[in-house]
Amino acid sequence: MAKYKTLDDFNVKDKVVLVRVDFNSEIDPATKKVSSDVRIKAHAQTTIKELAEKGAKTVILAHQGRKGDPDYTTLKQHSEILGKLLKCPVKYVDDVFGEKAKAAIKALQGGEILVLENVRSWDGETKTKTVDEAAKSELVKNLAPLADLFVNDAFAAAHRGHASMVGFTAVLPSAAGRIMERELKSLAKALEKPEHPCVYVMGGAKADDSLEISKYVLINGIADYVLTGGVTGQLFLASKGVDLGKGNLGYLAKKELTGLIPGIKALEDQFGDKVDVPLDFALDVKGERKEIPVNKLPTEYSIMDIGAKTVEKYANIIAKAKSIVVSGPMGVYENKEFNYGTKAILEAIANSKAFSLAGGGNTISAIEEYGLQKKMGYISTAGGALIEFLMGKKLPGVVALENAVTKRKI
Ligand code: 3PG
Repeated sequence: MAKYKTLDDFNVKDKVVLVRVDFNSEIDPATKKVSSDVRIKAHAQTTIKELAEKGAKTVILAHQGRKGDPDYTTLKQHSEILGKLLKCPVKYVDDVFGEKAKAAIKALQGGEILVLENVRSWDGETKTKTVDEAAKSELVKNLAPLADLFVNDAFAAAHRGHASMVGFTAVLPSAAGRIMERELKSLAKALEKPEHPCVYVMGGAKADDSLEISKYVLINGIADYVLTGGVTGQLFLASKGVDLGKGNLGYLAKKELTGLIPGIKALEDQFGDKVDVPLDFALDVKGERKEIPVNKLPTEYSIMDIGAKTVEKYANIIAKAKSIVVSGPMGVYENKEFNYGTKAILEAIANSKAFSLAGGGNTISAIEEYGLQKKMGYISTAGGALIEFLMGKKLPGVVALENAVTKRKI
């Protein structure tokens, strides 16, 4: 049984429901326009639509970017996108918890939706807080008295112990939204009770995250195999003493990744038979793809992808798996000459009978590019939160929801 309440536990008709969503989207730096509406769509089609249809007065609380960063914007255009997606008017107020916001909340009718201003426009939001501190914050003190129910649907921000994520659960009846529920259930399937053999495909450039996840899932008997690719694969190979060549090693050093080698070595000593590294690579030889086996290294050319032999080996392991988690591409998939490994591995996962879970921005873009969305078991909307979850960390937003207790009744 879920440790948190859901929308099924409350009658929301004509109630003020404060919903924390994660609308944090890719923003085109030149135009400042939202360039991917995936997250807005996910919340719109589930939690927000359901609340509006049930006659709730829905108040949306969300963030976009971080102050000072190019993707930091108001939520006006997010509210417009939401209105278009839902094909209904969506109100927006350029205030988080001041008089304007309060008046807009009080004026809401059942079934109406209001988007508040970027919650990070209030500096208090991002100062990590305990639940008690957050509950006493200006944000919570001002908004909670106007609301009947708090819904946390922002799984993708659940690794942040920010006021809007953990403060309301202490003072308002609280529930997980449909996206939060869906993410937690799918992740539990992959992490808490995976079917075996369970394969983790760890690619991309964030080798530090991949190492932490690999450690956690191997030590805890969650994964039977870890298949490495991308920069992660190169680093795992380098830790076996393979000389990748000056340029490739230089790249790893520049990204401050070579310091991870002792940790990878220790992992390989303990779980060597469960960790797979590339057998061959595709190099960029004057703009053309050229594959070489690992025993032909070092090379003066840049490693751009895994090669066909590696794909064959990994695809065989994937075909026998019952559950698969994939995070990170196998190579520089944005360049058509070098997308072979990423595409072939994602296709192998899509065509396998295993339950598959995919996450991370690049992985999701690649899945979309190759039209494999419908063949994946679950695609997470989260980035950092997913990584932390897979490392076995407790996410403050989820913990707050599980511990939500209040004397207030809806
Ligand atoms: C994310 O996109 O990972 C979340 O929205 C959290 O954003 P943050 O890293 O700026 O806290």
